Amino acid sequence: MSPEYRELIVQISYLIATVLFIFSLKWMNTPKTARRGVVSGVWAMTIGVGGTIIGPTIAVESLPWIALAVIVGGIIGIPLSRVPLTAVPQRTALSHAFGGLAAALVGTAKYYLWLDGELTTFRTFALSAEVLLGGLTFTGSLMAAGKLQEIIPTRPITYRGQNIINFIILGAAIGCGIALIINPEWSFLFPILLVLSLAFGIMLVLPIGGADMPTVIALLNSYAGLSAVAMGFVLENKLLVIAGALDGASGLILSIIMCKAMNRSFRNVLFGAFGKVSTADVAGEQKPVKSATPRDAADMMEQAERVVIIPGYGMAVAQAQHRVRELYDQLTKREISVKFAIHPVAGRMPGHMNVLLAEADIPYEDLVEMDEINRDMAQVDVVLVIGANDVVNPAAKTNPNSPIYGMPVIDADKARAVLAVKRSMNPGFAGIENELYTLEKTLMVFGDAKAVVGDMAKALSGEGGGAH
Ligand code: TAP
Repeated sequence: MSPEYRELIVQISYLIATVLFIFSLKWMNTPKTARRGVVSGVWAMTIGVGGTIIGPTIAVESLPWIALAVIVGGIIGIPLSRVPLTAVPQRTALSHAFGGLAAALVGTAKYYLWLDGELTTFRTFALSAEVLLGGLTFTGSLMAAGKLQEIIPTRPITYRGQNIINFIILGAAIGCGIALIINPEWSFLFPILLVLSLAFGIMLVLPIGGADMPTVIALLNSYAGLSAVAMGFVLENKLLVIAGALDGASGLILSIIMCKAMNRSFRNVLFGAFGKVSTADVAGEQKPVKSATPRDAADMMEQAERVVIIPGYGMAVAQAQHRVRELYDQLTKREISVKFAIHPVAGRMPGHMNVLLAEADIPYEDLVEMDEINRDMAQVDVVLVIGANDVVNPAAKTNPNSPIYGMPVIDADKARAVLAVKRSMNPGFAGIENELYTLEKTLMVFGDAKAVVGDMAKALSGEGGGAH
């Protein structure tokens, strides 16, 4: 095949891949078309990579190396795809880490390849940006994954003058990049740039803890995308530029949505050491709580006209979504209105609750966003909180000293009665107490969400229940 013909195939495959990537993002906007979005993304990637391999820039001698890389990538990637849904945030962070590492390695290789006279100003600019963003994405994402997996302490690690030191490291890295653009042959600066970028990634995530980790991951997603854009310019590959820009922009949009959902600013997320829990917050005086059996709870819901279910992380841990569906069926059979209140950061990843409820075939129209459901929460007879904690914590509205103060929450406390399913009085992700559980109108139904909700459904179906 002539090189011109091969180049044509590459350009056509890139065009198809670009269109598929764009549709993939569009389709992933709603659960109804999300699966199509994923499949289209997979095809886009396959066509893009396939086209590149066919293209004239790939020498035949390189093919065994590419095959080896695909095998190694597969050995790492396939087990990663099988993690439970609750571990997806750290898995995503690891993917970003690999993306960042790839960009930093390609940038490094290209710099030394071009060192003998082929480094133009533009190339050095793109290379420096690629290595800086790739390096910080690599270590920052590893730190984020380690924190989420609790291999490293999740609490913020802070020290005096931290922000100043971080700025100095970033400033020095940018300074190295600028010096390299002016004098590309000053090769002693290149390893310094690389080391500073890697160090900055670690220092950036070190002081961030607790509830801000999802936003950081979305932000690192954005950096990974931007490093791919820079890599696209280095390799003169249009598809990398486009896919990287889509990735960078979607990561940024996601982090903005998350910041809004937690009422936090970027500055606050990156420099505020959020999630630092003072002992006073955790060790407050124990207030009495009232508890009920699943049967009592079922009886209460049976008397209601309007029930709102608020799922959270505990529903995901217990994998209770199918029992929730049984309960939903029992209640709706009695013509009780049942809606699900969805908090944007309930669980451990964006859309976590939507995915679980869709898996249990809960009709999508019964899932209501936080702002909408809050408007008529006062008219709700019973709220059933299933393994949610921070997202229903009234302290976010009432206690200016609380670390989650200002985060929008679902107003479960405004409903006429509250039923809360969890195993103990332990706090949720932010590590703080929740007054909702000690309100006069609240009844705790202690136990694993799957067992408890299953018992509630059984009690309503006449098969028993009340074992807890
Ligand atoms: P959390 O505040 O984490 O509370 C979950 C509750 O579920 C815990 O209090 C726990 O209490 C209970 N639980 C755990 N396992 C259970 C089981 N098997 N059965 C019954 N209950 C169980 O959850 P949330 O309200 O969904 O809030 C999410 C938090 O995670 C927010 O702070 C958010 O910022 C953060 N976060 C969110 C994301 C995204 S993007 N969604 C990502 C990372 C972090 P017991 O131990 O007493 O059972």
